[in-house]
Amino acid sequence: MIGEKMNKKKEFKLVLAPMAGVTNRAYRQLIRETNFEAVDIIFTEMINATGISRLDNGTLNLLPDWDESCFVQIYGNNALDLSRAADYILTNYSKVEGIDVNAACPVRKVVRNGSGSALLHDPDKLKEIIKQLRIIVEGTGKSLSIKIRKGWEGYENYLEVINICDQLGVDFVSFHGRTVEQMYSGNADMTVLDKIKTERCEVFWTGDVFSVESIQNIAEYSDVVSGILFARGTFGNPWIISDAKEVLNGREPKSITLQEKIDTIRRHVELLLEDYSPLKALGQFKRFIAGYTKGIRDVRQKRNAIYRMNDLNELVELLITTISADYDDEPGKICSSK
Ligand SMILES: Cc1cc2nc3c(=O)[nH]c(=O)nc-3n(C[C@H](O)[C@H](O)[C@H](O)COP(=O)(O)O)c2cc1C
Repeated sequence: MIGEKMNKKKEFKLVLAPMAGVTNRAYRQLIRETNFEAVDIIFTEMINATGISRLDNGTLNLLPDWDESCFVQIYGNNALDLSRAADYILTNYSKVEGIDVNAACPVRKVVRNGSGSALLHDPDKLKEIIKQLRIIVEGTGKSLSIKIRKGWEGYENYLEVINICDQLGVDFVSFHGRTVEQMYSGNADMTVLDKIKTERCEVFWTGDVFSVESIQNIAEYSDVVSGILFARGTFGNPWIISDAKEVLNGREPKSITLQEKIDTIRRHVELLLEDYSPLKALGQFKRFIAGYTKGIRDVRQKRNAIYRMNDLNELVELLITTISADYDDEPGKICSSK
């Protein structure tokens, strides 16, 4: 039973992970509303530091609203652009709680440019970046964090990188237990946590956090972890962070009723329409159909019918009808992260 297993009361920070093209304003708000009491930190998607430092309008549009509390993740290949971007954000967005540097992105276009996980290959540059950002953050009361991976195959230098972060005053490192080459495939490797020790820098875990079991596994696996990031596990299951909070406090997660699920889908679309045209919102929302239909019978055929819809309203109605029909046959089947 969950209650028996999770009897030690360690407080974990529960975090919405940064996801490019996903954790936009609408998704951040959806997660905030569905996990109001549970979510501690919400990340933006990664935002180009050079674009911010040049006040590029398209890039600035990705920044949060002036009154939104969240962490902004920035990426770049040099200390100057990254610190200019951090300075701009902290000067103009007083509710931003922290700046996160992406040293984890494996996408070729980003890495070729010397950004994202390329920074793991250049510890000296990473040191310089952290030193400069520390100066910007100093005295603001805001946090500085870094997202990293295990390393590159044959050069898995996470211990060196975490040590640098610890020595130079990074507040927390979000650690993805995959190599750069793995991208998002294979399993995230928790055993690497065995070797990590820090003096003051906290270590948050990211990778394969999809269910109550995976949350329990990571919480029980290592004492070094003090935060958990939720990424793909939120797709179609935005309540997973609240479920995590329940489970970590030794309680059963709440079941989500069909009506709550329908209301969430409608709210998700409504929030997307606040920022995007119906056509763009349709494209955005299609990413979540697999998540919202997970576990229903004859899922492939039903999903295909939904994906074919070119009108947002019609798509939403078909999605809801499909989910409701499945639920009618087997009430309770579609429910949170159990
Ligand atoms: C669509 C998508 C976009 C992502 N974009 C970012 C990003 O902008 N910055 C980042 O640090 N990580 C990004 N990630 C990685 C996630 O934050 C997370 O670390 C990763 O998905 C592992 O967690 P999971 O296995 O629980 O999904 C992205 C992941 C996905 C699936």
